[in-house]
Amino acid sequence: MLRQLENLYSINVSRLEKSVIRELLKLTQKSEIISFAGGLPSPETFPVSQIADLIKDVVTKDGLGALQYGPTEGDPRLINEIMKFLKDDGIRFKSENILITSASQQALDLVGKVFLNRNNLVIVGRPSYIGALSAFKSYSAKFVGVDLDEEGMRIDLLKEKLHQMRLEADLPKFIYVIPDFQNPAGVTLSLSRRKTLLELAREYQILIVEDTPYRSLRYVGDHLPSLYQLDNGEGYVVSIFTFSKILSPGLRLGWILANSKLIDKFVVAKQAMDLCTSPFNQAIAYTYCHRGLLKKHVEEIIVLYKKKRMVMLEALEKFMPKHPDIHWTKPDGGLFLWVQLPKTFDVDDMFYQAVKEEVAYVVGTGFYTDDSGKNAMRLNFSYPSEEDIIEGIRRLAKVIAKNL
Ligand SMILES: Cc1ncc(COP(=O)(O)O)c(C=O)c1O
Repeated sequence: MLRQLENLYSINVSRLEKSVIRELLKLTQKSEIISFAGGLPSPETFPVSQIADLIKDVVTKDGLGALQYGPTEGDPRLINEIMKFLKDDGIRFKSENILITSASQQALDLVGKVFLNRNNLVIVGRPSYIGALSAFKSYSAKFVGVDLDEEGMRIDLLKEKLHQMRLEADLPKFIYVIPDFQNPAGVTLSLSRRKTLLELAREYQILIVEDTPYRSLRYVGDHLPSLYQLDNGEGYVVSIFTFSKILSPGLRLGWILANSKLIDKFVVAKQAMDLCTSPFNQAIAYTYCHRGLLKKHVEEIIVLYKKKRMVMLEALEKFMPKHPDIHWTKPDGGLFLWVQLPKTFDVDDMFYQAVKEEVAYVVGTGFYTDDSGKNAMRLNFSYPSEEDIIEGIRRLAKVIAKNL
């Protein structure tokens, strides 16, 4: 039996800890529990029969290609479909600016691999997506958090931080943002902040990593240009997209848009990871898009989630205790909203009470790189049914009222 395995781990890996969130979520496996905890799309959106039908076609018509290795950059046919899809979003790019990835989590890891040395600084929102924090942590990055408000990352605070960092001659490698319907807070970066963010990137000569899994899922308000679009090819933005929330996370398909030089680096880094993203899954996604199904599908998802979002907001209004320090965000899109509780709350402790009442949420603490988030929680509205949303919020409000 191998002893002292710990001595064999790399420094980067030995710093990684088991996710507290995952441990807590194990308690929510029972079917009676109404869970607002996952980040999952609703399975009722998965186009199962269409996919079954087109898989047959992929295998019979394109089997030899789909079962073979493919180019690291991605299937050119899928890239062509993505070009058409993003054109409607106002985003234009050339084939040298894209790399197909095994969903956006791999893209985040690639960003870490390409840019981060030990103790390099990364600016992140407070709170921020836990999977990105883990990806960057695995390259021993250090985080500088910038608070969010209803308009996304506080650019005034970001300016101050950057100024200070320049004085200390320790500028960050990049700023990580989720501009549209942020995970976990549900807030959207305003247009004026997007523009100032780009100005700052130019002034300080640093990159912006824009993560956009929820971008197509807008339910209210006006569409805003992506940072990639606003950058207009200057090369300050690395933009990450995924099929996970608009088609299926099981396909594990996403893509990076960036300056062509950077794409070359990502390609080399990806080759060392998995050679290429599954050509079979790319062929499925290509066929799905080529048949004109994606746009219609996204429109249908929007109708479903828009309703669920409304049901959750109405249930919160109805059941939550009225208290000046209890409030929540009203996201214009995406899958989540963020509930802020009085400072006296400890959502980690309260989680066990919630599970007893058969309702679950994600503790706010998981989304911070410091000890914050004890009095905040993330609620997902895409996965539970409308009836479960109402009943679950009623149960959660009862638990919160007990702790006031
Ligand atoms: C902001 C953000 N980035 C990346 C991901 C990873 O998604 P995937 O790897 O399925 O594309 C998620 C998943 O919830 C997310 O919320």
